[in-house]
Amino acid sequence: MEERKLSPFPSKFLWGASTSAYQVEGASLVDGKGPSCQDVKKVPEGTSDLTVCSDQYHHYKEDVALMAEMGFRVYRFSIAWSRILPEGTGEINPKGIEYYSNLINECLKNHIIPLVTMYHFDMPAVLEKRGGWSNRDSVDWFVNYAKVLFDYFGDRVKYWLTINEQNMLTLVGATIGTLNIPAGTKNVLKEVYQQNHHMLVAQAKVMELCHKMLPNSKIGPAPNISLVYPASCKPEDITAAQNFNAIRNWLYLDMAVNGKYNNLVWSYLKENNAIPEFRDGDEETLTNGRPDFIGFNYYSTSTVAAADLNDFNGTSDQQSGGTVPGMYKTVNNPYLSRTEFNWEIDPVGFRNTLREVYSRYRLPIIITENGLGAYDKLTETGEVHDSYRIDYLRKHIIQMRLAITDGVEMIGYCPWSAIDLISTHEGMRKRYGFIYVDRDDFDLKTMKRYRKDSFYWYKQVIASNGEIL
Ligand code: BG6
Repeated sequence: MEERKLSPFPSKFLWGASTSAYQVEGASLVDGKGPSCQDVKKVPEGTSDLTVCSDQYHHYKEDVALMAEMGFRVYRFSIAWSRILPEGTGEINPKGIEYYSNLINECLKNHIIPLVTMYHFDMPAVLEKRGGWSNRDSVDWFVNYAKVLFDYFGDRVKYWLTINEQNMLTLVGATIGTLNIPAGTKNVLKEVYQQNHHMLVAQAKVMELCHKMLPNSKIGPAPNISLVYPASCKPEDITAAQNFNAIRNWLYLDMAVNGKYNNLVWSYLKENNAIPEFRDGDEETLTNGRPDFIGFNYYSTSTVAAADLNDFNGTSDQQSGGTVPGMYKTVNNPYLSRTEFNWEIDPVGFRNTLREVYSRYRLPIIITENGLGAYDKLTETGEVHDSYRIDYLRKHIIQMRLAITDGVEMIGYCPWSAIDLISTHEGMRKRYGFIYVDRDDFDLKTMKRYRKDSFYWYKQVIASNGEIL
């Protein structure tokens, strides 16, 4: 068979990478920053706390220079809400404004477009005490915070992301350290989906506000999307895959794009007495907020089989699925290999996911995360030979190009992560960066930056606009 002619990457394709404030910045209580839920949580045993991280707060110039050296056209980072508003609302912290203003200017000076996530797993601790997303006022808190960001940075930031992985906040909040359920709550599922509803309303309002205040800027959501496969062609397994696809993926994108609750999720909530309460005007708000593009994080697909009512409802993380009795249960996919941290690797699933998302929503897509967590080793001569990471990324980029050839409109690719940082629950030892940071979980060492092999590889990928892999 003749080889397929591939479409090229668009000429202005946004190559870059991502980080998040609470995982990379450090300086957790410095220069007026208030604590976030991440600063007050109990970190998993054997992992570092989040006080220093990669200390980007004090190294941002050096880090941006290294990104520029790789040829980044975009840097996706998040703003720590409690660095801007230490109390969550009210008084603005001038030092926080100054830090992000400097970071944005440094990016622009280096011809790097800032792609700013407004909220990445780090609700101000003071607001958590007031109920966090359970409190209906959280909608106003978030809109107020967004307005501050638009006021101070909107002249220079043209691409915004609302909430990172709202689906993971809802599904695996306990694992990522964000779960906050008021004492005495009887129906936890209802409470969690009420929080989710508040986030959805807040996001819709913020997208509308962005269009009003910054007509030349673009805004989109950033959920973690991965196609769910059925374990077999048994019809019940197909139903299970539809269930998990709806609960994990489509709820969030149906809402962000069309302003409507996914019908499968709605009936699941109804059966569990967990339908969220709407306030007057919510329905209209949800349909008025529209994204300009879809950002999503992709690590791997999931595979599920039919589950009966006795199936165990185990714990899970962002990629390990879990079980909902009667709805679906996650199973291993025998066709996929796994990372050292046991996440499945599915580059073809990346193409499948891109095709599915685009055909459902027909909006341009930017990948806001994709990457491989591994135990990297720094050699005595200051090198990191991470061929496994190059292999992972190469395979995913090949599939992304196939998706473009399939007609998927892609605007950018930001793997996780630009630089080593602290994992959500597996510490510093689970590294993702192109840049190695010389520290361990409990020894801050030199904090020096080293270019990994993947750094040089990605540099040439960008320089050739994806032709040389
Ligand atoms: C995503 C998050 O879930 O995956 C990031 O948006 C996170 O914050 C990344 O770090 C990788 O996950 P982990 O658990 O390996 O850090």
